[in-house]
Amino acid sequence: MRKRIIAGNWKMYKTMDEAKSFVTEVNGRLPETDQVQAVICPPSLYLSELATLAEGSALQVGAQTMHDTDEGAFTGEVSPKMLAALSIPFVILGHSERRQYFNETDESVNKKVLAAFSHQLTPIVCVGESLEQREEGKTVETVATQVKKAFQDVHADQAKQAIIAYEPVWAIGTGKTATAEDANEVCKEIRAEIGKLYDEQTASAVRIQYGGSVKPSNLAELLSMDHIDGALVGGASLDANSFVEMIEVAS
Ligand code: G3P
Repeated sequence: MRKRIIAGNWKMYKTMDEAKSFVTEVNGRLPETDQVQAVICPPSLYLSELATLAEGSALQVGAQTMHDTDEGAFTGEVSPKMLAALSIPFVILGHSERRQYFNETDESVNKKVLAAFSHQLTPIVCVGESLEQREEGKTVETVATQVKKAFQDVHADQAKQAIIAYEPVWAIGTGKTATAEDANEVCKEIRAEIGKLYDEQTASAVRIQYGGSVKPSNLAELLSMDHIDGALVGGASLDANSFVEMIEVAS
């Protein structure tokens, strides 16, 4: 049985005060369940304080990105070693906004995935097709290639721990969600690709999230699909009530 995981990707939103109020409000309101992990990924500036604030609650904290080396002259970056030292368990890697605005490539995502595993951080590896790729019928080919490249040289034991987020680029922040069936079909292909790269056991262990305009009202249907084990949520994760509601839906 794969444990569900609902992760809020806050992107570049909220001040520290707003972030702390969110955590204080959510702490204690999360349902007691071992069926689902509840994670927020705030701006890195807040990781330490929010992780401390969430200690002892069911809420976990993850990072939105990181560099691929432990330390060095990389102005503005945060390293895997730094995240590990704060006991941050998750890191989102290869989000389409990082690929689009910060020149991340399949190769750089792969380096970061390897770096994450070498520090026992669980990567949430984002893949997804653009509208153009979807219209050209290249969805499966696109995501399969992204998965294959992201997992290059990753050992099967590590791959089993990975989380893959399928986020069709055209569904992010647009209010357009892939139908649950379409999303499931692509997640199934992602799992099949992991099966090809590793084996059946690894494929069935990997958790796959859907992301793109997820909200409390469409989450249940997405989660009812065989290959969707959770969601990576942007906008709707910023509101404490809607975040708690999503965890309740997933429980
Ligand atoms: O990483 C989550 C994200 O890209 C989806 O954003 O606002 O469409 O839920 P949103």
